Amino acid sequence: MCGIVGFTGVNQVLPSLLKGLEKLEYRGYDSAGVYVNDGEKGDFLVKEKGRVADLERATEGKGIEGTAGIAHTRWATHGGVSVENAHPHMSEDGRFYLVHNGVIENYEALRDQYLQGVQLHSQTDTEIAVQLIDKFSKENHLSTFDAFRRMISLLDGNSAYGFLLMDRQTPNLMYAAKKKSPLLIGVSEVGNVVTSDATAMLDVTHDFIELMDGEIAVIDKQKIDLFDPNGKQITREAFHLDIDASETDKGIYPYYMLKEVDEQAIVARTLSQYYFDDEGQVQNIAPEIIEAMQAADRIYIVAAGTSYHAGLVGQRYFEQWTQTPTEVHISSEFAYEQPLLSKKPFFIFLSQSGETADSREVLDNITKQGYPTLTIANVMNSTLTREADFALPLLAGPEIAVASTKAYTAQIIVTAILAAAVGHTPFDLKNELAKVAVEMQVIIDQKDTFKSIAESALKHRRSAFYIGRGLDAAVAVEAALKLKEISYVQTEGFAAGELKHGTISLIEEGTPIFALLTQAKTAGLVRGEIAQVAARGANTVIIAAKTLAKKDDSFVLPGVNELLMPLLTVIPAQLIAYYATLDRGLDVDRPRNLAKSVTVQ
Ligand code: F6R
Repeated sequence: MCGIVGFTGVNQVLPSLLKGLEKLEYRGYDSAGVYVNDGEKGDFLVKEKGRVADLERATEGKGIEGTAGIAHTRWATHGGVSVENAHPHMSEDGRFYLVHNGVIENYEALRDQYLQGVQLHSQTDTEIAVQLIDKFSKENHLSTFDAFRRMISLLDGNSAYGFLLMDRQTPNLMYAAKKKSPLLIGVSEVGNVVTSDATAMLDVTHDFIELMDGEIAVIDKQKIDLFDPNGKQITREAFHLDIDASETDKGIYPYYMLKEVDEQAIVARTLSQYYFDDEGQVQNIAPEIIEAMQAADRIYIVAAGTSYHAGLVGQRYFEQWTQTPTEVHISSEFAYEQPLLSKKPFFIFLSQSGETADSREVLDNITKQGYPTLTIANVMNSTLTREADFALPLLAGPEIAVASTKAYTAQIIVTAILAAAVGHTPFDLKNELAKVAVEMQVIIDQKDTFKSIAESALKHRRSAFYIGRGLDAAVAVEAALKLKEISYVQTEGFAAGELKHGTISLIEEGTPIFALLTQAKTAGLVRGEIAQVAARGANTVIIAAKTLAKKDDSFVLPGVNELLMPLLTVIPAQLIAYYATLDRGLDVDRPRNLAKSVTVQ
């Protein structure tokens, strides 16, 4: 987590740094800070608790000028949320300024060994790193580059870092290094930038050089020197990122989440056209992926959070259409409790960001064991896509809101298309997905209904449940996560049949129970479970498929193939979460304590 931007150029950099930070705020928003050097008169360090907007206000009226600077938005790991712990961190005598994304595992040992007597100003691991650079440059007379390298060489092997360093004595230079945390160098005619995420700097450039683990870059406004982990100079071509900068703007929307919910119908349409030719054949999935999956005796889907929930749906497609047993695992569990594997496993990593540290840990372990791996992610060129044997894009477009919406539906669609390519579907998937896209739009257009459901069922409520069976149980856990993560209503997603085995004791007068009812086989049973909770005072909100709906149900979903119903069922849940959150006056896009891309384990 945490977002980094840096810019060394020919114009004033503060506006670009603040704008870049705003775009990176999804990576953490506990505090933010900026360091700018004007190359002549002086330099400026401003840090603030809270959002980038707070930092921006704090920079006003300070006469900050300069053509080089670094900035950071923080998701606290070591050290609480305070101005002192905000980045950039400064060395004792104010010479070096460092921003950092990641975790230095052995920072306490390094502090005790090297920094006795140094006055520290924060509780962060990052300050240790900048003080070490200062110490090595002073006491060992090392150049900034060598002091930076020496500091990095002392970091524990498990440490993760994206570092960006400035030295007052060479105010136009930035020093960058990364391991396990993403860092890109953007190239332009008005200067060069460094960023954790290309989308933050699209206003400056669309051309980026990827920095690989262990490498160090020295960046001037006209020149970039790249060094491999052994210190040998190397070159690497920039790649062009074909994203429209406006895709990362909110446009007319009050929140990114609403924009992204709305985009789902378009994503579904694009995907169904992208992967199918006129004969209904799957394209753009490399034959090697299909062969490797056909050779597997078991598929393992590994993911976290919402992506894990999408995996629970995708599992059905692989089992039903490829006849291959499929398991879905939470990456943070799998990483340290690897189950007994089959003889010929195939691994699929599902991720929006492609940077989730828990999933990366598993990919690392599995790669060492030599099993084939595929990452399906929204951000291509991310660590998980680069480090797996194969990668497939989600093509959902940038997802900025912390609560994932369109990446979830895109993950379900891509796993369906992949399963169809590896095996076969008993119906025309292309046609059915096209129908899904149309019906998604129909549901999205009924926002007022979800607003009034949210306001009537959830006002002043502290807890809620989503229940369903089969695929509806898989959607129930995602629906519950959406609601709880942004509205803070404690919500459980439950397999409806399991309620009576204990949890039903939590039901009291007015407890909101959202029942999902789209699977014919179990509809009668779920109706029974709804009756059981209603008899105990629950306020039931029934979201049912057209073919299974009854007169008093709260919302009737259009009918598509049952297996694809999760793509529709989740949309009311997303919108109910959105409106319940608005109703509570909370920030929909930036729920407390969270960050969009979870790059720590
Ligand atoms: C919730 C959400 C998270 C992510 C999880 C994994 O709305 O977005 O639960 O799904 O942190 O992230 P990715 O998909 O980037 O691997």
